[in-house]
Amino acid sequence: MARYVSLGWGIRKERGGLWTRNAVRGTSVRGERRKRDGRVEWRKWDSHRSKVAAMLMRTKSDPSTLIPEPGSLCVYLGASSGSTVSHLHDHICGAGNHHDGKIIAVDISSRMMRDLVIMCETRPGIIPVLADARHPLSVAQYLQRKSDWLFQDLSMPDQAKSFIESTSKLLTEGGLGIISIKAASERWAPGGDEQHFDESESLINSASHLQIIERIDLRGLEDQHIAIVTRKV
Ligand SMILES: C[S@@+](CC[C@H](N)C(=O)[O-])C[C@H]1O[C@@H](n2cnc3c(N)ncnc32)[C@H](O)[C@@H]1O
Repeated sequence: MARYVSLGWGIRKERGGLWTRNAVRGTSVRGERRKRDGRVEWRKWDSHRSKVAAMLMRTKSDPSTLIPEPGSLCVYLGASSGSTVSHLHDHICGAGNHHDGKIIAVDISSRMMRDLVIMCETRPGIIPVLADARHPLSVAQYLQRKSDWLFQDLSMPDQAKSFIESTSKLLTEGGLGIISIKAASERWAPGGDEQHFDESESLINSASHLQIIERIDLRGLEDQHIAIVTRKV
C-alpha cells in the first residue's frame, strides 16, 4: 500500500497527517517537524493548529477539491503570523514562486503582521496586508482581479455576515469561498455552539451569490469550530 496520498502539487496526506513540500528548504516557520524524501524536504502541517489542515482531514468529499490550484490568486482573511499561509504558499507558489501564485494575507493585528512580514521575505508570492477584513474594499485594492479561492478565519463576531460581504466583493464567480466559524467568537446566545453554527449556515445559505457545498465539523481537531465550504454562483 502507498505510504501517502497526493492532494495536489506539494501536499501529501499520510497516516499521521498532512505534509507540504517546503518552499524554503532547511527552515521551519513555527517549529514544525521537517523530513527528507530523496532530495525533497517536507514540513508537517498540524491539523490541531490550522483550520485549513483540519478541514482537509475532516471533509467527506475529496480533499483535493477544496484547495486552490498552484498558481492561483488567493485571499486569506485572518492570516495571523502566517503559519497556515506558509503551507498554502508551499502548494500555490512553491520555491521562488515558480508557480506564479499569489496569496493576499490579511490581518488586523500589527503584532501578527510583524511576524508575517518577516516570513514573507523568504516566500515570494505572499502579500501581507494590514487591514480590517470587515471592509473588503480596503483589501480589493491589492487584487488586479477577483480571487479564485478565499478563506476566512477571523476571531470576531458576525463572522458569517463579514464572509458574505467579502465573497461578494473579492471572490470570482465559480471560485471557492470557505469560512471557519468559531462559536466562542460570537456574542453569547442561549442555544450555544450549535445555534451559532446553524444561524451562520442559514445566513450564508440566504446569500444569493453563495452555494453551500459542505459543512465540516472540526471539533476534536479545533474546538468549537466548523468550516462551511461554498461556491460563488
Ligand atoms: C484564529 S487567528 C487565525 C489563525 C490563522 N488562520 C492560522 O491558521 O495560522 C484569527 C486572526 O484573525 C485576526 N482578526 C480578527 N479580527 C479581524 C479583522 N476584523 N480583520 C482582520 N483580521 C482580524 C486576528 O488578529 C487573528 O490573527
